[in-house]
Amino acid sequence: MRPNSIAVLGLQWGDEGKGKVIDYLSERCDAVARFSGGANAGHTIVVDGQKYILKLLPSGVLHEGKICLIGSGVALDPWILKTEIEELAERGITVDGRLFIDFAAHLVLPLHKVADGYQESLRGKGALDTTKRGIGPSYADRVSRVGLRMADLYNGTRLEEKIDYVLSRHEECINKAGDESLRDREQLKNMLDELASQYEPFVADVAARVMELISSRKKVLFEGAQGMLLDVDLGTYPYVTSSHTTIGGLFTGLGIPPDCVGEIIGITKAYMTRVGHGPFVSEIEGKQADELRESGGEYGSVTGRPRRVGWLDMVALKRAIKANGIDKLAVTKLDVLDGFDELFICESYELEGNKTDVIPPNHPDFANARPVLTKIAGWGKPTVGINKFDKLPKNARRYIDYISVKTDVPVWLISTGSSRESTIIVEN
Ligand code: GDP
Ligand code: IMO
Ligand code: MG
Repeated sequence: MRPNSIAVLGLQWGDEGKGKVIDYLSERCDAVARFSGGANAGHTIVVDGQKYILKLLPSGVLHEGKICLIGSGVALDPWILKTEIEELAERGITVDGRLFIDFAAHLVLPLHKVADGYQESLRGKGALDTTKRGIGPSYADRVSRVGLRMADLYNGTRLEEKIDYVLSRHEECINKAGDESLRDREQLKNMLDELASQYEPFVADVAARVMELISSRKKVLFEGAQGMLLDVDLGTYPYVTSSHTTIGGLFTGLGIPPDCVGEIIGITKAYMTRVGHGPFVSEIEGKQADELRESGGEYGSVTGRPRRVGWLDMVALKRAIKANGIDKLAVTKLDVLDGFDELFICESYELEGNKTDVIPPNHPDFANARPVLTKIAGWGKPTVGINKFDKLPKNARRYIDYISVKTDVPVWLISTGSSRESTIIVEN
């Protein structure tokens, strides 16, 4: 029997509205588990007009009593997480007794953030425009088998050896940074010792916990971070993040087998955004782009950077659906398109005079692709806050039907605003 757990994955370049949808679904779940990414994520939830932006804590945390799990695939900045926990506590939300962090989660250290900036400067014109949260360098240490993991905090000798090695590995960058405190091993050791006692109640074997929950028929929600096009292998490499944001990352990032996952839900905005550099075939610029950016509030939730915007790219969406085995779609931010008399959808690409509906495997080719657009009439009426499918204007319903017909995947959830209430569950 397929478990009743649900995976929620971003199908674009992140910021699809995962936080809102996961918060909405959490009410009907027992636990929420993050499996990849780190504090480069910014998942926004709006409850009773109050905004919460979560970077590391699973987006189910606002629901009292829900279990929150952080898997080994997450790049964990323990200082950012600590601040996040403290800030939530000030707002009356505590995680005691319900937050569990895997022993094998790798740490993001202060020097990883410095290395992130340093590596960006070395890339010059080819800079990726990362979030500078130390994500790339921390994952690089992980695959080079020198990373510090949560478990190391509780083994003094091993911790000291690892600190020495990691400091020597990043020596060039520390020299360039000119911040002497970065090479102070005693200071780093003391800081980590302090964290060790603070985190002791939370450290656990997360894989075992998830499997226990599933076998006792509890409903677990698996929360993706970033999105398909930022996956280190399947995304628009090298303009990607350093983790597997797609379905495979869920299994390795939590240490669980495929039969723990029930339905796989993919989230797409009704249009596209991207924050950071890299190809974006359906990107728009000028007045129309400004209107879309403003009406969607498209500014990075972590860094405040203006997001690049464009029309929905069906080529990329269809590939993301296939690669992740998506069962159902959630389409967010439909309301953002309310003010447009006409809309466009990118149906295929034109590459060197040829039409194609597959993503070119080579990044320079992808950057040269031009969008082939289909014009669609707008709906000219507000959809904000609508929570029933048949209350949507006719052309908005047609837009949604178009997405499900073209992708051959049902649209199951539509979001018409940032609040919990602005959600439509589409009955078949
Ligand atoms: P995530 O990283 O995928 O969780 O998405 P972000 O939180 O970074 O960005 C999504 C933004 O859109 C947030 O500001 C949300 O509050 C907002 N949002 C989510 N769904 C909707 C929606 O349906 N309509 C509107 N107008 N805003 C939404
Ligand atoms: P959520 O979970 C949007 C982008 C960065 C940059 C690239 C690499 O909120 O959807 P990194 O710091 O990861 O090395 O940066 O990836 N990026 C995101 N863009 N949403 C995110 O997360 C992102 N996480 C990373 O802007 O282009
Ligand atoms: Mg985000």
